[in-house]
Amino acid sequence: MAKIIGVIQVKGGVGRSTIATNLAAVLSLKKPTALIDCDLPQGTSASWYAVRKSEVPPANLTLALARDYRHLVRVVDEASREHRYIVIDGPPRIAEMTRAILVMSTLCLVPLGASGAEIWSTADLLRTIEAARKYRPGIDVRIVWNRFRSQTREAHDLSEAARQELGLKELSTRLGYRVAYSEALARGLAVNEWLDRTAHIEMMALADEVKKILKEERK
Ligand SMILES: Nc1ncnc2c1ncn2[C@@H]1O[C@H](COP(=O)(O)OP(=O)(O)OP(=O)(O)O)[C@@H](O)[C@H]1O
Ligand SMILES: [Mg+2]
Repeated sequence: MAKIIGVIQVKGGVGRSTIATNLAAVLSLKKPTALIDCDLPQGTSASWYAVRKSEVPPANLTLALARDYRHLVRVVDEASREHRYIVIDGPPRIAEMTRAILVMSTLCLVPLGASGAEIWSTADLLRTIEAARKYRPGIDVRIVWNRFRSQTREAHDLSEAARQELGLKELSTRLGYRVAYSEALARGLAVNEWLDRTAHIEMMALADEVKKILKEERK
């Protein structure tokens, strides 16, 4: 059965598309993977995929678009027939779409940068997560720290504050603040296909951690 990974957040610009595109590209190295862009008309993942097609063979990676949550349900159903992984790039607001992604996903990732504003907006998402858990208890939602400046005191203080205020699980892999993420995104690439070894290593680690969580779900 296909494993569905939703990437959601209320705030814009936190790294949903960065994580969705990179994760989809890395997962597709081993298994057929579908990337679904729900953030239309912006369509960052869709634009990334269009550029990608002219740069590298898309191989095991396909793209689909979802206009609204009903459409998303159909698109996920279709994609699950031929793909092992489905990665969903969500919209930057709490909408029916966000709820649908929460209810359908095997694992939901919530990108968060170490800033007070991002922690506040994630607190708004908690209510949506609780509401979705009424339909499907035990939905697995985890924070992914993005643009994390591990050397700074501020980042550690804010991650501690998030831990206390949000009470969500976290991935142990954190993504640093690296120009490779924006450079690769603009070229339709994943960071493992770009020039930054550290970004490459952390993205492979993120994908490995996600795969491990998904395997545990099956037990
Ligand atoms: N770890 C990172 N290091 C450096 N730049 C990053 C990182 N993550 C994301 N970015 C850059 O920040 C910008 C916003 O990221 P992204 O588009 O992934 O966020 P988003 O949550 O999908 O935003 P939107 O609300 O526009 O859909 C992009 O230019 C991206 O390249
Ligand atoms: Mg986006």
